[in-house]
Amino acid sequence: MKRVVRKAIMPVAGLGTRFLPATKAMPKEMLPVVDKPIIQYAVEEAFDAGIEELILVTGRGKYLLEDHFDHAFELESTLVERGKESALDLVRSIIPTAGRISYTRQQKPLGLGHAIWCARNLVGNEPFAILLPDDLVQSKSPCLAQMMTAYEKTGGNLVAVMDVPREHTNRYGILETGSVDGALSEVLGLVEKPNPEDAPSTLSIIGRYILQPEIFSILDKGEKGAGGEVQLTDAMAHLIGKQPFHGYRFEGTRYDCGDKLGFLKATVALALARDDLGQDFADYLKTLKL
Ligand code: UTP
Repeated sequence: MKRVVRKAIMPVAGLGTRFLPATKAMPKEMLPVVDKPIIQYAVEEAFDAGIEELILVTGRGKYLLEDHFDHAFELESTLVERGKESALDLVRSIIPTAGRISYTRQQKPLGLGHAIWCARNLVGNEPFAILLPDDLVQSKSPCLAQMMTAYEKTGGNLVAVMDVPREHTNRYGILETGSVDGALSEVLGLVEKPNPEDAPSTLSIIGRYILQPEIFSILDKGEKGAGGEVQLTDAMAHLIGKQPFHGYRFEGTRYDCGDKLGFLKATVALALARDDLGQDFADYLKTLKL
């Protein structure tokens, strides 16, 4: 039987403190990279990978995210009146079929693990994906689609991974790895934000996961880890040895848009890749006296 993943969770309840004051009144997921909000890249990636149902875990002050994926009647009727058809098609193309996105709230930002747990009843007893929209992956094939292909072979739990400089291991969930088969590494252990000298490797988890529903009964306990938060990495570590668990080296470049430098890098890379802007932008960058 073909292994399929139908549902995905996108946690967006974080406070985005690294981007204050921009994120005081506006969710960080609405910051635009060129001309699309960060969240839209992740939503498109999920649907392109075949996800049928997307669950956004939101929080107070995040209603703009819901509005972005809904009709904007005044705007649309004005565009109709003015005959701006391509703009109209563009704003309408963002709206998923009703029921394809649902929203639930995390009332308090108690950590990523807790945010995922908030979606347990909407996911039910089936494998699911997680996309952290801050992680924008520029690649030929969407990162989650690459993982879906790998998952058909591995089953179990799969996390997207990349090598990071050793001095940065304290920013990520880090893998202790076993056997390696092409892009796949067997996971023997997971540590959240280890100090460089304690890190078992430099292979770090980025914001794309495929997990089995058993994770929810571990998250039920609400155990707190690093930073006093309910950590997803800690819960995942309990599944190692009980279910297949692999790291998958994806093809592409990941930008951390939750971080100012990462956001700027993403903006430059994606602008340079655009047919309508890339050449002019490259010409401009060359004039800068760096
Ligand atoms: P981050 O670690 O980037 O935290 O969360 P943050 O609050 O969004 O941003 P900073 O660090 O204050 O700048 C990683 C992902 O987990 C979600 C975030 O929305 C983001 O997608 N998250 C985190 C939650 O949904 N709830 C939480 O309690 C914590």
